[in-house]
Amino acid sequence: MPRTIPLAYDADDLAALASPLVLLESAGHTLTASNRIAYQPMEGNDAEADGAPSPATLARYEARAAGGAGLDIVEAVAVTPGGRARASQLLLTDATRAAFERLVAAYRAKNASTPLLVQLTHSGRFAREPVSPYAIEDGEARLLQDGDLERVREAFVRAARLVFECGADGIDFKHCHGYLGGALPA
Ligand SMILES: Cc1cc2nc3c(=O)[nH]c(=O)nc-3n(C[C@H](O)[C@H](O)[C@H](O)COP(=O)(O)O)c2cc1C
Repeated sequence: MPRTIPLAYDADDLAALASPLVLLESAGHTLTASNRIAYQPMEGNDAEADGAPSPATLARYEARAAGGAGLDIVEAVAVTPGGRARASQLLLTDATRAAFERLVAAYRAKNASTPLLVQLTHSGRFAREPVSPYAIEDGEARLLQDGDLERVREAFVRAARLVFECGADGIDFKHCHGYLGGALPA
């Protein structure tokens, strides 16, 4: 016999998915999702060697833009070269900023309204230059010192500024799976 979970709404009423949702109202600024569908961040591992979005990356996000979800969160983008988990991961620094501007512009050419966030990350012990805030037995990760933490913090702040300068609407943090943002409170 099929088991059912009681829901506080009519699950057959798909019209609810098409209704808008105000995500943020602050200082005269409003971000609204035009519907209840969101693209989760999902790495495509197709960045150029310097971490800039490649033509393949652009094509993926143009397709997402055309899809018209109410909210779109760009995949995990590293804030330092050594903080990348893979060589093909996106990296946002002054050096790759122009390419990210082109990515946002290409998105906006197809979709002017979907709030576009960018997920920022440092892969910590899983990074290409592995680091950890605590000692890991048998691991390769270098133990982070106070000065390192300050530099990582600055890298996140710099990347966050670049996200807005490139024309995107906000940031998200990838702080799961033992990556640096999750390892720090642990
Ligand atoms: C290929 C792939 C890449 C992913 N990349 C990211 C990522 O960059 N950031 C993130 O937070 N989650 C990432 N995820 C996790 C997904 O966003 C999602 O949370 C996860 O797949 C669970 O959702 P699902 O049950 O609908 O698949 C990725 C998942 C897959 C399969």
